Amino acid sequence: MSKFVQRALEKLPKLDRDQIRSLLEDLAAENERLEVVLDSMNDGVLVTDTGHQLLLTNKAVERLLPLNRSESSGCLIWGAIEDEDIAEFVRATLERQESVSDREFTLNFGETVRILSISIAPLVQAGWIAGNLLRVEDISEKRAREARLRRAESLASLTTLAAGVAHEIKNPLGSIGIHLQLVNKAIEGREHVEPDSIKDYLDVIGEEVERLNRIVVDFLFAVRPMDVNPVDAGLNALIEEMMDFVRYELEQQGITLNLELDETLPEVKIDEKYFKQALLNLIKNAIAAMPEGGELTVSTYRRGDEVILRFSDTGVGIPDDVIDKIFEPYFTTRESGSGIGLTLVYKIVREHLGEISVNSQEGKGTSFTITLPVPQRETHLIDWKGERE
Ligand SMILES: Nc1ncnc2c1ncn2[C@@H]1O[C@H](COP(=O)(O)OP(=O)(O)OP(=O)(O)O)[C@@H](O)[C@H]1O
Ligand SMILES: [Mg+2]
Repeated sequence: MSKFVQRALEKLPKLDRDQIRSLLEDLAAENERLEVVLDSMNDGVLVTDTGHQLLLTNKAVERLLPLNRSESSGCLIWGAIEDEDIAEFVRATLERQESVSDREFTLNFGETVRILSISIAPLVQAGWIAGNLLRVEDISEKRAREARLRRAESLASLTTLAAGVAHEIKNPLGSIGIHLQLVNKAIEGREHVEPDSIKDYLDVIGEEVERLNRIVVDFLFAVRPMDVNPVDAGLNALIEEMMDFVRYELEQQGITLNLELDETLPEVKIDEKYFKQALLNLIKNAIAAMPEGGELTVSTYRRGDEVILRFSDTGVGIPDDVIDKIFEPYFTTRESGSGIGLTLVYKIVREHLGEISVNSQEGKGTSFTITLPVPQRETHLIDWKGERE
């Protein structure tokens, strides 16, 4: 009870009619203000008592969550919710006395599909549980925006990739053309031709064809849609597995490995096959950057709703004028490189709804930071103070 009402009640026997009337008017005005605030919210709000009976709903609920009108007041809340999945979820959550944030449901409203995000939390009043609060948010537009952004991004990268291929195949095609002319000339000259010289030309043509083939294979690999299927997994275990795989090679290259893995790291959604490929590409780049040996530090930690994975090497570093290009397809500074490694890492991380960034200092080293979202899931209430009846 608010202090104002408490004091008014204490004084009630001493108040005359007019004073009581003005007090009631004040209270009614305050009540109305709170109702207006609730009804002006975009999110739906439903409140229950400790026995899970529906006490109040705001206007937005009418728009977002279809309720069984006849049963909506004074009944168990899950009996009032029309959608069976949501009703069952609410029942299970409330009966288990859990708190849930942002659980998503898809609802069909005739032609339109709506994605709702529902959160349930206890209503705490003066340190005691007085009931429960359900918040319903319409996230359809947010999800659609994210999907549009991903599509635009993948179209843009396809354009860069296609431009890259066109540029890449120009050189080998030119070289094949020149060497074919040389072979032709040699044969047409009719005089004695050294078979060795023709063989040299043909060898060059063979190498260039092989180069073209690799460009095409790499291109197909990079553009092929990834059927990424992420499931809950421990990132640390995956890193350890990969490190066991490359440990011998690192030793041979004089590279010391430091693993700084946070043991309390929550699980994240990972497709192991693809993520291992990304880790391997980063390791291979680090090895290539430390021809004289050095240190590779792989660390994981949690920051809020994100898991961070950092790969740092003490290698040659990346010059400022090319650092913006390293994720572009076919960008490479290595003789035997194809320039596809980091393009794939970028694509894989994005498919996992993560981000990747790079920091580098020439002559000192490079570090790549990958951020992955921690999936929202039910959290058990540990500071549950009140008892339910
Ligand atoms: N750890 C690193 N240290 C220094 N430079 C790096 C590092 N990682 C990437 N680079 C730079 O970025 C470029 C692109 O890397 P990317 O992995 O895409 O291609 P690549 O390693 O050259 O070839 P590949 O396709 O075989 O992986 C590299 O050629 C190199 O110049
Ligand atoms: Mg590479």
